[in-house]
Amino acid sequence: MKIQNNHSLKKYNSFAVEAKSRYFCQIESNDQIDALLEWQQQFDLPLLLLGGGSNILFLNDYQGMTAIINTKGITIVGEDSDYTYIRANAGENWHQFVRWTVERSYAGLENLSLIPGTVGAAPMQNIGAYGVELADILYELEAIELATGQCKTFTQQECLFNYRDSLFKSSAFGQYLIQSITIKSPKKPQWNINYAGVKGSLEGKTINAETISNSIIGLRQSKLPDPALIGNAGSFFKNPLLRKSKWQALKQLYPDLSGYPQADGSIKTSAAWLIDQCGWKGKRQGDAGVYKKHALVLVNYGSASGKDIGRIASDIVKSVSDKFGIVLEAEPRMIA
Ligand code: EPU
Repeated sequence: MKIQNNHSLKKYNSFAVEAKSRYFCQIESNDQIDALLEWQQQFDLPLLLLGGGSNILFLNDYQGMTAIINTKGITIVGEDSDYTYIRANAGENWHQFVRWTVERSYAGLENLSLIPGTVGAAPMQNIGAYGVELADILYELEAIELATGQCKTFTQQECLFNYRDSLFKSSAFGQYLIQSITIKSPKKPQWNINYAGVKGSLEGKTINAETISNSIIGLRQSKLPDPALIGNAGSFFKNPLLRKSKWQALKQLYPDLSGYPQADGSIKTSAAWLIDQCGWKGKRQGDAGVYKKHALVLVNYGSASGKDIGRIASDIVKSVSDKFGIVLEAEPRMIA
């Protein structure tokens, strides 16, 4: 394991903002994970585990060790009459994993095509798109407890998945390194194609994992910026969950307000719509901006710092709060 000092993280965060990590290493094997944990126990410095860096905003340099998890490998680990079980190591690129399954006609991941990031980061925030969340197809995952170095298996239920949330992002935050995930691919899939825009683009085509994946790729490319070209972290804010009474009062004032009832009785509404109504779409403050095709996506046009992005995010939160009385919550993790 090669440790570097004061290493730039610009290439390792999808916002492409400049930030330095006091220590830096890349983890290519499970043996190197052991070495990393020994190092961490010896020096007792904060540890930042990064996959694709697609859900993080560096407001400052990082004063600990940043470890990029690069462990690779995809394997079919079993099957029964209903499912095929497929395991992927944490460092696999998420979209390449999705395409690996789709190209072999395994169903389940197609709606999650083109989401930036790695396999190991996916459970953290229970990635989701077009009516499907990781929680719907995850069977189990293996994670290393940082304090003991022990490998533990978590069933889907034990991961405590919620909307853009999990055990690893909440009560067990900072305690585990996700080593691999195992998904269950259904042998008799129920395709999820009701999301606006998906069904239409499939008209006249055979419906299977590959055609759905291609349709989702087209849809995402039409409205979301490619982080390889314009720095961004996908949706910057979560869609807010409102009390029913609050949602009803707003709906009287704004008949276009969307509302998706949740199992807990709350109503999810569209953060993009709220931000758009405040006139933010396409706005720019220097090189930090709101993407012109989607109000939920903050972008770095080149030389914005994390603080520049953070500033525009705070200004948006204030506008939405002033106009609608809703406080938006950021999705990416902030490194202060
Ligand atoms: N809308 C606007 N203005 C805009 C964009 C959208 O008013 O500039 C309104 C439209 O009415 C649209 C609605 O917002 O119908 C919802 O927009 P969209 O379908 O793009 O979905 P979203 O709720 O903004 C969520 C996820 C995305 C995911 C899409 C598709 C969150 C925070 N975001 O976005 O996930 O790709 O649904 O399923 O839940 C991500 O998390 O990084 C991400 C991109």
